[in-house]
Amino acid sequence: MTETDAGPLKGLSGKLTNYGDADFARYLRLSMARSMGFSENLLKRPVVGIATTFSEFNNCHRGVPELVAAVKRGVLAAGGLPLEFPTISLGEPFLTPTSLYFRNLMSMDVEEMLRGQPMDAAVLIGGCDKTVPAQLMGAVSAEMPCVQLVTGPMMTGNWRGEQLGACTDCRRFWAKYRAGEIDSQTIGEVEGNLATTSGTCAVMGTASTMASMVEAMGMMLPGTAAIPAVHADRIRAAEASGVAALALAKAGLTTRDIVTEKSVENGLRMLLAFSGSTNAIVHLAAIAGRAGIKIDLNRLNELSDTTPVLVNLKPTGPYYMQDFHAAGGVGAVLRELKPLLHLDCMTVTGETLGQRLEGEPGYVNRDVIRPLQDPLQAHGGLVALFGSLAPRGAILKRAAADPTLFEKEGRAVVFTSLEDLAARVDDPDLDIQADDIMVLQNAGPTSASAMPESGYLPIPQKLAKAGVKDIVRISDARMSGTAYGTIVLHVTPDSASGGPLGLVRTGDRIRLSVKDRRLDLVVAQEELNRRDRAVPPPMPARGYARLYREQILQADQGCDFKVLTGASTPDG
Ligand code: FES
Repeated sequence: MTETDAGPLKGLSGKLTNYGDADFARYLRLSMARSMGFSENLLKRPVVGIATTFSEFNNCHRGVPELVAAVKRGVLAAGGLPLEFPTISLGEPFLTPTSLYFRNLMSMDVEEMLRGQPMDAAVLIGGCDKTVPAQLMGAVSAEMPCVQLVTGPMMTGNWRGEQLGACTDCRRFWAKYRAGEIDSQTIGEVEGNLATTSGTCAVMGTASTMASMVEAMGMMLPGTAAIPAVHADRIRAAEASGVAALALAKAGLTTRDIVTEKSVENGLRMLLAFSGSTNAIVHLAAIAGRAGIKIDLNRLNELSDTTPVLVNLKPTGPYYMQDFHAAGGVGAVLRELKPLLHLDCMTVTGETLGQRLEGEPGYVNRDVIRPLQDPLQAHGGLVALFGSLAPRGAILKRAAADPTLFEKEGRAVVFTSLEDLAARVDDPDLDIQADDIMVLQNAGPTSASAMPESGYLPIPQKLAKAGVKDIVRISDARMSGTAYGTIVLHVTPDSASGGPLGLVRTGDRIRLSVKDRRLDLVVAQEELNRRDRAVPPPMPARGYARLYREQILQADQGCDFKVLTGASTPDG
């Protein structure tokens, strides 16, 4: 029988299969492991699992095999045994009804495979929007030494002399096409030049926002969030992540030592300084929730009022992720934010955030990353709104919105579902004016559509053709991090769960005040009492669809499942 010699780490001798005979279980496992051709010496080493998410349904993860190879190299060089294992992969545009619907399923997959397989540490390779949140949700629940690695952002394309990047430019050109400014042949050419390399979207969308926040929270190696997918440094980052994972295991540091109330707040500061994706609020609430930490949206507003926007990236500025990396990346922003951060937070290197920042080089391109004293905007990019229409809150990305629409009362034009929106929004007879407020109902987490990124309601064609570029839009849906406009999202509770959003009727008055953080339905309570609330969709008979419907929480709780939240108990 082969004996293991993994010091305090258990390697393949850990987490034995339950046959009622531990020695037999170890002997059987090692004999099976030897069938894979590993030498006896390698099998005695501590094990670093590598969660791989390569999938041909996920363009953003095309480079994962190369990263896996590099992580393995790092683990082997550091004296460990790297073992790769697959989990679900979520490619944003390849899933119906929406990738968010599957995020919790992926998090369960990650958590249980981390917990159930014999590994001392893990490197989690994610990238596309929901994959990094799902991996971290699982990793926090599994409470293990883990290092997050991302696939990195795409490079931009070039079309007719114009730099193009997914997906802010996708939306810009689609809006031109809808307005009749470009024809179908031109939009076809644009389609072929928006996403031209492997990697995640090229702007500060959800994927890049999550990567940057996770580096700020200490769960990723310093300087690795923004390295482009095709840059050789991305491969070196993978190798270094393998080395770091083993060191983390030896130091006995788990995700719970790193994901804390303070590091979550550091993540929020980064989100606000980036003016990052609104989706990140939902994901961070879910990740924090796995450690028993609640994100208070009133606290988000306090942080937003004291965190200026420093990063000049699309969709709010002109630059792309590749420019951000060359400009100094996350480290340069962290150095600016230093007076606002909790510097005693632990990171995956075993250093505190403060120690990390002491040793960093000082280069920064000020066109892309502004100093704290000379920001792009004085206040953070996101703000939470509360009021009779959103008792538990709603989110507005004010940095990507039109400030002339921030203090406004207008007439509601209501669409009761995504289907209703699709059927009527471009109807030439639609009764709508530029100063109306568009409302979409039944697109929240408990709806049949499972909170899609449809909060970016298209401007009705007749208004778009008349030159209208923005209009206030309100929904319980989400919005892609790459989108822009005066768009109120995540209205909570959502309409399908009986929230007041479902009581709005066309012709009602709605009052928005960003200054007062208010969103109110200006209709008498007696009148509202007479109206029917929206009803939840029918309960699915079985399977994941039923689990989702029974368990799904609201946006302010991260849209996690009830049964998955909170700190775990000794038996899981
Ligand atoms: Fe994967 Fe945008 S489609 S990050």
